[in-house]
Amino acid sequence: MAIRVAVAGAAGRLGQTVCRAVEGADDMQLTGRADPALDTPLADVLNDADVLVDFTVPASAVANARAATGAGVHVVIGTTGFDPAALDGVTGANIFIAPNFAIGAVLMTQFAVQAARHMAKAEIIELHHDRKVDAPSGTAARTAALMAEASPSGATPPIHSVRLPGLVAHQEVILGDVGQTLTIRHDSTDRESFMPGVLLAIRKVGDLTEWPVVGLERLLDRG
Ligand SMILES: NC(=O)c1ccc[n+]([C@@H]2O[C@H](COP(=O)([O-])OP(=O)(O)OC[C@H]3O[C@@H](n4cnc5c(N)ncnc54)[C@H](O)[C@@H]3O)[C@@H](O)[C@H]2O)c1
Repeated sequence: MAIRVAVAGAAGRLGQTVCRAVEGADDMQLTGRADPALDTPLADVLNDADVLVDFTVPASAVANARAATGAGVHVVIGTTGFDPAALDGVTGANIFIAPNFAIGAVLMTQFAVQAARHMAKAEIIELHHDRKVDAPSGTAARTAALMAEASPSGATPPIHSVRLPGLVAHQEVILGDVGQTLTIRHDSTDRESFMPGVLLAIRKVGDLTEWPVVGLERLLDRG
């Protein structure tokens, strides 16, 4: 049976792309588009959904997830700029959160964490389109936190945020040590880069045994 999917933020840049991707997936059915811009409140789409995908704004992600889980609907959250700890202990349905659904970005973070074990210092430059509301990006914040855990010094790499038209989502991690630097860079040049990860999360969120689970790598490692 097809997974019934509703999208919150359906009129937004990511939300529209997710709606198209879900409509194109053989094992899914798009059952609702919630967005104030479409005059459709979240409550109107929850009855017909197995999974809610949330690409909205930081201020509404937690309330949307609580409303969905309260209705027994699993939640996949792509919205960034909120604290996932706010969803600890939520019951009723499962929650998966990823600050970045692009496989290349997940690998960039993993390589940066590996390098942080061995090189003295690092800084992160994240670059996004100028309508992004949060800074630093969720990906940069997560990369910095994981690098701090891995680094012998425990230092958190400083983050520099660039917001310009023409950009989509980009991140560069520069590590420095005596006489050398190492640069690890990822570029999302199209929002389609996020869709395989979003569809994977929709397929897997119902199988989680604990939540919230944060990070696409947690699903990739499950095979
Ligand atoms: N995880 C990832 O891989 C990834 C990738 C890109 C962007 N993002 C994040 O996704 C979010 C959305 O980005 P965007 O560029 O599509 O933004 P956007 O401004 O284009 O779209 C957001 C949409 O959410 C709607 N909205 C606001 N409050 C709502 C609510 N309570 N219920 C339902 N809809 C609501 C708005 O009307 C708008 O249409 C941001 O937090 C961004 O950082 C995540």
